[in-house]
Amino acid sequence: MGRVIAVANQKGGVGKTTTAVNLSACLANDGNRTLLIDLDPQANATSGCEAGVDILDGSVYEVLLGHAPLEAVICSAGIDSLDLAPSHISLAGAEVEMAAVLGREKRLTEALVTVRAEYDYVLVDCPPSLGLLTVNALTAADSVLIPVQCEYYALEGLSKLLNSIQLVQRYLNPTLEIEGVLLTMYDERLQLSKRVAAEVKSYFHDKVYETEIRRNVSLAAAPSFGQPVILYEPRSTGADNYRRLAGEVGHSQEAAVA
Ligand SMILES: Nc1ncnc2c1ncn2[C@@H]1O[C@H](COP(=O)(O)OP(=O)(O)O)[C@@H](O)[C@H]1O
Ligand SMILES: [Mg+2]
Repeated sequence: MGRVIAVANQKGGVGKTTTAVNLSACLANDGNRTLLIDLDPQANATSGCEAGVDILDGSVYEVLLGHAPLEAVICSAGIDSLDLAPSHISLAGAEVEMAAVLGREKRLTEALVTVRAEYDYVLVDCPPSLGLLTVNALTAADSVLIPVQCEYYALEGLSKLLNSIQLVQRYLNPTLEIEGVLLTMYDERLQLSKRVAAEVKSYFHDKVYETEIRRNVSLAAAPSFGQPVILYEPRSTGADNYRRLAGEVGHSQEAAVA
């Protein structure tokens, strides 16, 4: 049964999509059957691996509104073992359209029932809000991976995210765990990066991944070519960082199963 990991932080620009795309690609490259679900109406994860996609047929919008099964919108994404459930700008209306729908928080959970077994990992790229789309992701997930940008105010807003996680645990998904906290856009030359890293570690302790994602131009450039960094620039620091992260995520999964 696939492990479902929501990549969430209501702050924009912290590296959620970069992490969802590149961690998915690296997990798939390690031989794990991996599904990337793009739950952000901006569809950045979809365009970030678009070069490998042959045909986009529908999006998670139709799935959440009950107009199509998840299987119907899944396409292969250019790496063996990597599949994508694409987003579309129409998803921007979904939160409003779903407001009066029965079981609205569990639409993704339900859609995953028939496909989970096909995968080792399902990663969900969340939008930068704590609205109904993110709640759907947290409700469907086994765990949440939180990217934290090594910048001023990194921890600001995290208590809100943790509060949402607690509410979802209480009312919708009691077994939801924190998968890990990931330091992104780390710059070892900056005291600020080191300070933020220390602060995040003092708060989340061993939940913080040993792998830090460095600030790296290849990671920023790869999406404009529609490719994960391991295809665009396999020897870059960014590719190396995400391969190491995939190793850590895979290792903790093995430890949990053993
Ligand atoms: N490690 C990194 N090094 C350089 N640029 C990065 C890195 N991570 C993300 N970016 C860039 O920063 C911007 C925001 O990242 P993104 O993953 O889209 O954040 P989010 O999904 O949280 O909004 C994007 O332009 C992305 O290419
Ligand atoms: Mg994003």
